[in-house]
Amino acid sequence: MTEQTLVLIKPDGVARGLIGDVIARIERKGLTLAALELRQVPTEVAAAHYAEHSERPFYNDLLEFITSGPVVALVAEGERAIAAFRQLAGGTDPVEKATPGTIRGDFALETQFNIVHGSDSSESAAREIALWFPALNS
Ligand code: CMP
Repeated sequence: MTEQTLVLIKPDGVARGLIGDVIARIERKGLTLAALELRQVPTEVAAAHYAEHSERPFYNDLLEFITSGPVVALVAEGERAIAAFRQLAGGTDPVEKATPGTIRGDFALETQFNIVHGSDSSESAAREIALWFPALNS
């Protein structure tokens, strides 16, 4: 089934010059781009995006980090796009869970600085795409 998923290349990925590599992996997988923008994240958008983590001990650090520099927000589209991008990203913990060959497995050491975000379900994808790209699909 054709799906859309929201991907963020986080401030660490942008600062380390990994935008091209991440987008190349998305395109090589066969997904297409439905939206793409480099932007500074307003605190309100960051808080809404990560609302489900608001009770976690790392929440404040997460908001500080995601607003610390520009991110690339994009919508990738294709068959099983949500699972496909999560496969490309690898597990959240870049050492214990992500395997070599994945974005996090290849480029990251710490869970907080794990280069990319991808929607984790169709409900999250719909919510996140509406938050980041309200004009898309309307
Ligand atoms: P992401 O896929 O963007 O979704 C939530 C984010 O919280 C996650 O990637 C990590 O960057 C961050 N995160 C999750 N667990 C931890 C943790 N234990 N310590 C610090 N950051 C975390």
